[in-house]
Amino acid sequence: MSKRDDHYYITTPIYYVNAQAHIGHAYTSIAADIMARFQRLLGKQVNFLTGTDEHGQKIARAAEAKGVGPQTFVDEISEGFRDLHKVLNASNTDFIRTSEPRHIAGAQKFWEAANASGDIYKKSYEGLYCVGCEQYFAQKDLIDGLCPIHKKAPEMLSEENYFFRLSRYTEPLKKYFDEHPQFIFPLNRQKEMRQILEEGLEDISISRSTEKLSWGIPVPGDDSQVMYVWFDALTNYVTAIGYGADEAFFDAWWPADAHVMAKEINRFHSLLWPAMLLSAQQQIPKQIVVHGWLTVDGEKMSKSLGNVVNPYDIVAKYGIDAFRFFMFREMSFGSDGDFSYTKLDQRYRADLSNDLGNLLMRTIAMTHKFCDGRVPVETKGEHQEFWDLYRTHMSSWEFQKALEIVWDYVRGLNQLIDREKPWTANKEGRTEDVARTLYTLLEGLRQIAIAIQPFMPGTSEKMLSQLGFEYFEPKFDNLVEWGLLKSGAVLAEPEALFPYIE
Ligand code: MSP
Repeated sequence: MSKRDDHYYITTPIYYVNAQAHIGHAYTSIAADIMARFQRLLGKQVNFLTGTDEHGQKIARAAEAKGVGPQTFVDEISEGFRDLHKVLNASNTDFIRTSEPRHIAGAQKFWEAANASGDIYKKSYEGLYCVGCEQYFAQKDLIDGLCPIHKKAPEMLSEENYFFRLSRYTEPLKKYFDEHPQFIFPLNRQKEMRQILEEGLEDISISRSTEKLSWGIPVPGDDSQVMYVWFDALTNYVTAIGYGADEAFFDAWWPADAHVMAKEINRFHSLLWPAMLLSAQQQIPKQIVVHGWLTVDGEKMSKSLGNVVNPYDIVAKYGIDAFRFFMFREMSFGSDGDFSYTKLDQRYRADLSNDLGNLLMRTIAMTHKFCDGRVPVETKGEHQEFWDLYRTHMSSWEFQKALEIVWDYVRGLNQLIDREKPWTANKEGRTEDVARTLYTLLEGLRQIAIAIQPFMPGTSEKMLSQLGFEYFEPKFDNLVEWGLLKSGAVLAEPEALFPYIE
């Protein structure tokens, strides 16, 4: 059996549980959710995985600092991430924790498969390790002796470990990259990785002695070592879909369609993970989707700066849909972006309350006033061009462009009202003109409600319900047939989508 065409498998990174979730994590998970929901619109069956990465030195130390056992510590923070995804209205179908038995058993099977390919060997090693990155650094990759990401001096570690023959995969990966020029989104990220391949990959340590670190998955056949946290963590993408346990399920979903993450962990996903998969004789995921870093008011978010933005605060004030919309309307997905309450506030007022909210309000109010609240004459309008463009942008992760064309549509309808002046037409007894304008507006709003569905699922549902639809799951295939507003349908009183906020 092989991966089914109507299946779409998307993942976020599994998040470290050494600290509470913040908007950076929310950003990635919402991006993946938007794609997951778009794929459902296309009629795909979607498996959307997120979860928590719970082993390794970083977590062990964080638990120690709090004076609790590692399991107790990770249980609590992992629950926080699970809860965050509910608040984000993420439609993930699974949530994996690396401390779960299904993952531990699968990771060990994966290790055995790589071992069976002759890619794992033991050797003594000394190197500079950054606990923040959970990664060894070569002297040349440090900046003034410090980790380029955490700006801290790495620790010298020396012990006997298992190694993975990553070097063996330099050539196969070069070939894979050449044959799959769109493997990594955006393209400049693929160039970066291709450059690293040119320099050649080196074998890496993939275990730690339990004397130094016991919080990890035991290496099969050697209880004195636990797996390196990245080797353990990357396998979550396959253990969650039954690797080594449920072959039929695994075959139906693997390879993944998209692994989504920020740029600092691209290398693990685009080089190490594909090499591990080749070693275990599995297929490479279809796409690695890399976005930029989110700053706050132009600064890197950090505990020491005290500028870590809590997603719960934003949602409490503006609602989840405004937050989801803002992050992808304001910033270009793939590049770095900046969050600020001022900009969020502006978008809320201008794009949401004014442009969209008022359009719906005015349209329904006029339908009541001039047409007894009944949907007037039915005229077919296909809008094929709009939908083709929308689909192209969405399929290529151009979320900002997709929202731009939707807002062009919204503004176009607002201009139509100003131009046609239905109140004047009504006064002058031009009932056909009034009916035609209102129908164009109502039908346009229906289409807009569908187009924003991946971004603002709650708002989409509210709009459709105000337009007289029972809840349903929209699909592109029958966009025209299922939805065309039926003349004569009676609309309820309008309700504000984005109420005024102090
Ligand atoms: N546990 C590893 C991932 C293992 S995946 C097999 C890890 N965890 S993490 O908690 O540090 O999460 C990193 C990811 O969280 C980033 O790649 C990104 O997806 C998201 N973000 C965290 N902070 C972010 C920003 N400030 N901006 C954008 N994304 C951010 O790395």
